[in-house]
Amino acid sequence: MTDQERRDFFRRIVAMAPMATGGNLPYRRLCREYGAVRTCSEMVLAHKLVKGGERPLLRHHPDETDFGVQLAGKRPEVVADAAVIAVEAGARFIDLNFGCPIDLVVRKGAGAALLRRPGKLAAVVAAVRAAVDLPLSAKIRLGYSADRINCVKVARMVEEAGADAVVVHGRTRAQRYRLSADWDRIDEVARAVSIPVVGNGDILTCWDLERRRAETAVESFLIARGALIKPWIFTELRDMKPLYPEPADRWGTMRRYFDLAREHFGDDARGLGRVRRFFLWHLGFWNRYYPWRREDFLRTAPDSLLQARNPRPPADPQWELLASADKKDHERIWDMLLAGDHPGA
Ligand SMILES: Cc1cc2nc3c(=O)[nH]c(=O)nc-3n(C[C@H](O)[C@H](O)[C@H](O)COP(=O)(O)O)c2cc1C
Repeated sequence: MTDQERRDFFRRIVAMAPMATGGNLPYRRLCREYGAVRTCSEMVLAHKLVKGGERPLLRHHPDETDFGVQLAGKRPEVVADAAVIAVEAGARFIDLNFGCPIDLVVRKGAGAALLRRPGKLAAVVAAVRAAVDLPLSAKIRLGYSADRINCVKVARMVEEAGADAVVVHGRTRAQRYRLSADWDRIDEVARAVSIPVVGNGDILTCWDLERRRAETAVESFLIARGALIKPWIFTELRDMKPLYPEPADRWGTMRRYFDLAREHFGDDARGLGRVRRFFLWHLGFWNRYYPWRREDFLRTAPDSLLQARNPRPPADPQWELLASADKKDHERIWDMLLAGDHPGA
């Protein structure tokens, strides 16, 4: 591919973010059906992949026509070897993780730890660039901590090292998920480099997207928790129109995920056990859905609706059940689904 073709791959897109656990294969398929054309694997640890581990994470469905693999690692030659394995397994692009905040990864010097060592970070990008001829992005945060913001410098180095795009999550490592994403900083990066910048942080409604498009130079966007809370967000962002599914529609979405998960994990006792585990995990995000209106967005901006506490759901037993954060209610939802005893069944 030419430089131009690889860069164009990242222009004007709205993509599903890499997400450990949440972005499993059946959930990605569900989002794909709602319009998420670009999907990405969960984070794959490069050193494990080259030793023969992590292989299930490379699996994707033929429907995922634009599927990429995200790699985390600190040793350039190891990450480069891992990228070759990912490409052989069918990845259409490679994303490098320089934003993972979790202690286990950071303590080993990978993920967001590399934001403190931009030279080393750039060496990882350059090694992968030399090894694969596919679109390559680097996913960073604003910096390691508030007093060490270096996203513009890191993005320039990433560009110099041969990446085709830089994904910026508008928070620091120290911040993790606290406070709203800082889109002014993301905008600064977009104005400082010539490769496409993919902005990431707190996009939950079509109004968020409209606002970021209007107020920043960012042209592409990555959606994570919004996709976990409401997978139909990809239809909303494609059509720039809110959707207001009723409880019966939401049961339909859950049912579809259940079917896709059974297809993937299997219908036997072991497979169903895994389906159940993932399903209960997803309910921890699905229950946060609320039919946000433009007024809610206007009231809450510039802080994001994602950070705001959920308002009360409509007074209706079905709405209340689906909005419950209680694990017992989640078990009940699972049982109702298994029994086919729910609205819209
Ligand atoms: C459950 C979960 C798992 C995540 N796993 C990853 C991951 O494997 N790799 C990664 O780069 N980011 C991961 N992230 C971060 C997201 O990709 C994204 O950068 C972050 O959630 C901000 O976007 P949002 O505001 O749209 O959620 C994860 C986020 C969540 C909520």
